[in-house]
Amino acid sequence: MTAPEQIQLENIADSDYEIFALLKQRYSPRIFKDKKITEQHLHQLFEAVRWAPSSNNQQPWRFLYAEKGSEAYRKIIDNLTDSNKIWAKNAPLLILTAYKKETEKGKENLHALHDLGIGLGAMTVQAQYMGIAMHHMAGLDYKKAQHIFNIPEDFHIVTAIALGYYGGELDDLPQKLQEKEISERQRMPQNQFAFKNSWGTDQNI
Ligand SMILES: Cc1cc2nc3c(=O)[nH]c(=O)nc-3n(C[C@H](O)[C@H](O)[C@H](O)COP(=O)(O)O)c2cc1C
Repeated sequence: MTAPEQIQLENIADSDYEIFALLKQRYSPRIFKDKKITEQHLHQLFEAVRWAPSSNNQQPWRFLYAEKGSEAYRKIIDNLTDSNKIWAKNAPLLILTAYKKETEKGKENLHALHDLGIGLGAMTVQAQYMGIAMHHMAGLDYKKAQHIFNIPEDFHIVTAIALGYYGGELDDLPQKLQEKEISERQRMPQNQFAFKNSWGTDQNI
């Protein structure tokens, strides 16, 4: 078994309750297989977003994607924080995510971020089904990215995402990130975020 395959197995969530296998196996790697995402798979990923729910079916999500080797890819890397630059360059594909700020009636769309998130959730599960990993990144200079890519002011850039098939070489990472890559994934227990009847952690679940 190769090291990345071993990591995939060990990164399976030690969930308290049984959940869909794809959700258990998903994680955010910093290494990826050296293989271009096929056009078919890319369309399937965006199709998963397309059929996600959104407030008033306004579908405010927008994406700008670039393949490794392109000028646009280099520009996205340039906009990442230094800590993300170190590993994101391992991904064959990078995406900038954005949402349209206003509703069709010209009012602030207070649910646009929710809609982008639920669309990305759908994309993440579809990706997992196809053996594709997604590592979301808030660490980017979104204002600079907006300027460099001439993205109109009525859209807000939210994250960048590194995408690629699971795999790759641990040696592509500096020692510290290698350790992070194989460390156990942690979560807060349900009673810290799901409250029954009244807000608080004591008498719940
Ligand atoms: C909106 C968002 C922003 C994130 N930003 C970063 C980031 O800038 N750099 C990074 O290395 N990971 C980033 N992550 C990944 C999280 O750190 C990761 O999902 C979390 O630690 C849980 O690990 P897991 O996805 O492997 O289960 C981000 C995730 C999300 C959803």
